[in-house]
Amino acid sequence: SSTFLLGALTVLLLIYLISSASFSTQDPPGPRPLPLFGNLLQMNLKRPYKTLLELSKKYGSVFTVYFGPQKVVVLAGYRTVKEALVDYDEVFGDRDPFLIVHEMNHGNGVVWSNGDSWKEMRRFALTNLRDFGMGKRACEDKIIEECQRLLEVFKKFKGEAFDTNQRLSYAVSNIICSIVYGSRFEYNDPEFTSLVDRVSRGAKLLGSPSVQMYNMCPALFKWSGARKELLKLSATSTKQNRAFFSRLQETLNPQMCRGFVDAFLVRKQTLDESGITNSHFHDDNLLMTVMNLFAAGTETTSTTLRWALLLMAKYPKIQDEVQEELRRVIGDRQVQVADRKNLPFTDAVIHETQRLSSIIPTALPHKTTRDITFQGHFIKKGTTVFPLLTSVLHDPNEWERPHSFYPAHFLDKEKKFVKRDAFIPFSAGRRVCLGESLARMELFLFFTTLLQHFRFTPAPGVSEDELDLTPAVGFTLSPLPHKLRAISRM
Ligand code: HEM
Repeated sequence: SSTFLLGALTVLLLIYLISSASFSTQDPPGPRPLPLFGNLLQMNLKRPYKTLLELSKKYGSVFTVYFGPQKVVVLAGYRTVKEALVDYDEVFGDRDPFLIVHEMNHGNGVVWSNGDSWKEMRRFALTNLRDFGMGKRACEDKIIEECQRLLEVFKKFKGEAFDTNQRLSYAVSNIICSIVYGSRFEYNDPEFTSLVDRVSRGAKLLGSPSVQMYNMCPALFKWSGARKELLKLSATSTKQNRAFFSRLQETLNPQMCRGFVDAFLVRKQTLDESGITNSHFHDDNLLMTVMNLFAAGTETTSTTLRWALLLMAKYPKIQDEVQEELRRVIGDRQVQVADRKNLPFTDAVIHETQRLSSIIPTALPHKTTRDITFQGHFIKKGTTVFPLLTSVLHDPNEWERPHSFYPAHFLDKEKKFVKRDAFIPFSAGRRVCLGESLARMELFLFFTTLLQHFRFTPAPGVSEDELDLTPAVGFTLSPLPHKLRAISRM
């Protein structure tokens, strides 16, 4: 057995020497990788973005790291991320899907696709979000209606502590349902609750270490329970969506589209009728785009709202100031999007919540479309790139107090709201979040309406200091499970 061990060690050493020799000296610097393992042994696998932040201190704003055998170039800090994503958006603008999502999406939809199909689906989704979503007054009304329903749910707890998680998810998911299917659901409709619960569970599984490991070393982690569960969830969602689509198809009226799915079906029908057989408007793109809108547009927004309420409970003086501003400017009436410009402090609090919580710390993986020499480093075509958004949102060169909750980051001396270039929770450039406007409208209306009606405090026996801001492990950084009291103010 010692001969075997010696043999194995020699082989590993050889692989190591060969792989080290193939590094180009112009490659962005980085820690020395081990064969097969790459830099995994140095990684905080539950929170890889933390290791990446540490490495950026040592290796600078463009560096190489190996997730197992996979080479990744990481971009850190405001100047570098902005230069890559905005000034060189064509080069850094492709997506590199995780293996597991590729198995579920097969290059369809918007989030994980590339090329003409991506372009066309993105354009179509944007137009229709505008038509059925943020562009029209109707969408504001839909969000306001959902706010009112949510108030009723919160009121039912009569000031007792509860976990806000599921309730916020349901409310936010209903906005996507309205836009996509053309109608909202009741919160106790099992068809709806199973849909939303699956999306939440899917986001958790996607960020789990064993699924991440599968993406890097599929042969070893093929039998991971998390992966199997994720594939099963995806199959169930597929089945449910296909059933929704057939129901919508049966009652389709091309003159009166109810939502995104209708608009897609009409476009597909028109193309079919004109004999165009190779269009991107096919069933798989419909399915994946719809599933993408749910996955990308629900957890993100509800998680941000959960951070906002937790921060209000933790920092009651800031909550006082928000509520004082709402009382002075709005009073008892319903807040409208048009009120935002008159609520600079509240707006600053929402921005600061997004900045501090930095819920998608490494963005989604990008890929280079051609060879490039970037800031003196050679990056090959097809290289995976992580824009480290969290390093921008917490960049000490950009923010006075990068790690504190400090709404003044977004206020000038006269307490007027100021936009900050380094505020990029939605990323930037060609792959910038497609739902940014919708998300901003939702965050504003949900947050202000809730704060008008409730005072948020920790559960009895828990002090403000004890409210923990450590993020849970998952694809998005969400608060750890916690309960809050929503004490009625009206
Ligand atoms: C992509 C953030 C809400 C749809 C992204 C990306 C981020 C992000 C960081 C990746 C960008 C990149 O790869 O560089 C957020 C945050 C949200 C939010 C923080 C809420 C607070 C939404 C909503 C929708 C949505 C409401 C849909 C209705 C998408 C889509 C993409 C995306 C489709 C993929 C875009 C592409 O690859 O072309 N989002 N998002 N997001 N988001 Fe959002």
